Amino acid sequence: MDVAAHRDEQLDAFREDVLQGLDRPQKSLPSRWLYDPRGCELFEQITRLPEYYPTRTETAILKEHAADIAEFCGASAHLLEYGAGAGIKTEIVVGALHNPRTYVPVDIAGEFLDMTAQRYRRRFTNLAVKPIVADFTADFSLPAGILGEGRRVAFFPGSTIGNRNDKEAGLLLQRMRRQVGPQGAAIIGVDPKKDRSVLLPAYDDRAGVTAEFNRNILVRINRELEGQFPAAQFRHSARWNEAESAVEMHLESPVDQVIAVAGRGFAFRHGETIHTESSRKYEIKVFSELARRNGWHTQRLWTDPLRQFAVFGLV
Ligand code: AVI
Repeated sequence: MDVAAHRDEQLDAFREDVLQGLDRPQKSLPSRWLYDPRGCELFEQITRLPEYYPTRTETAILKEHAADIAEFCGASAHLLEYGAGAGIKTEIVVGALHNPRTYVPVDIAGEFLDMTAQRYRRRFTNLAVKPIVADFTADFSLPAGILGEGRRVAFFPGSTIGNRNDKEAGLLLQRMRRQVGPQGAAIIGVDPKKDRSVLLPAYDDRAGVTAEFNRNILVRINRELEGQFPAAQFRHSARWNEAESAVEMHLESPVDQVIAVAGRGFAFRHGETIHTESSRKYEIKVFSELARRNGWHTQRLWTDPLRQFAVFGLV
């Protein structure tokens, strides 16, 4: 598909998701639409915030356990990364692997992916780098032969799996299993459940970067779907949902109002919210069980001394 056709298809999907989501009793938007270029930039900033522990903790775990991770993957591995982005953490893993053969970064952001691929080709001259532009949250198939023979390892860091509900996470785990085959493995970053005093500030930082990241979805609706949201007036809130074991991001309307989007009007009451993202926090055994139900066995678990983050080695 050419670039323009892909853009049109994305715009149609965005419009449909927004119109449907704003029609629900609890208004909601799929979190993947948070990641336009500005959203990606803001998310990069979030990963460097003092309150946002997941990125630095997972990076430290990967560095600390790099040799064991390399042993787990085995020599001559083929690595498949879901939602690769800049692939910073993967560089730690690929750098530690014994004679890795192939790196297949999968990401929806094609330009970003090209830059990542070029960086890997420069640094790892014996590695075949084969980027794929695809939305890993939807079903996608790998071109035949892309991973080659030998052990295939799916890499999904960042606790991005926590942004999916149980059903979607299960389908993703099943697809990974199909894509790496019965002898394959997976390395998955998971954010364990912990005290709210740590969780909530990570999603509502003092500098207001997460708030801007959240509101940016309204700015995107205004730009791409002729929306009329007074974006700056919507209040960002991070809430703990015990039943879902998740931190939720919401955007709260400051007043009763009707807002136009793509030629339709949506009524908001004062204090009514749009739910924009859930970040599930898993007990270790709960995630292990989810993986088991979807074709995987937990063989390794790498954590930091405070057990703030967990990297699962699944076979
Ligand atoms: C991408 N994902 C793992 C992040 C998270 O922690 O759920 C997205 C994020 N949203 C707000 N802050 C970070």
